[in-house]
Amino acid sequence: MKAIYKIIFSSILLILICGSCGKEQKVCSTPESVTYTNDVANLVETNCFMCHAPDVYKEKASRNKIYDYKSLKKMGESGQLIGSITHAKGFIAMPYRKNKKIDSCAIEVFKKWVETGMKE
Ligand code: HEC
Repeated sequence: MKAIYKIIFSSILLILICGSCGKEQKVCSTPESVTYTNDVANLVETNCFMCHAPDVYKEKASRNKIYDYKSLKKMGESGQLIGSITHAKGFIAMPYRKNKKIDSCAIEVFKKWVETGMKE
């Protein structure tokens, strides 16, 4: 009889401990060295091009250019890139009016790119 209580007790304990498992922050596999060409360009394309692509940015993104290395670097240097995707005060939150941030691991890649000098 005692053994069964032990099993029940430890099961309950496990369930309680693991109640928070799913809420843990996910671990990102951010590359050692982040470059525009290898890591950043495709993130901009998938997350931002519906408004910031070369053929639509004038009407859909109020002429805010981020579609090539040079223009994105400028936004990185001014703080607007990280400010906007992290929804920091004083910046216009991106993606525009979606009320939602892009994937947290993608944000990590953008941050690392800026912190390590925005390599091409
Ligand atoms: C749904 C359309 C849309 C999407 C998606 C979008 N943007 Fe924008 N973006 C805009 C618009 C519109 C503006 C100009 C807003 C204004 O001036 O009021 C803008 C402005 C910006 C600015 C200037 C912000 C500032 O504070 O001055 C940056 C930087 C920017 N976008 C980066 C991004 C990045 C990076 C992504 C992808 C992660 C992205 N945007 C996705 C529409 C979009």
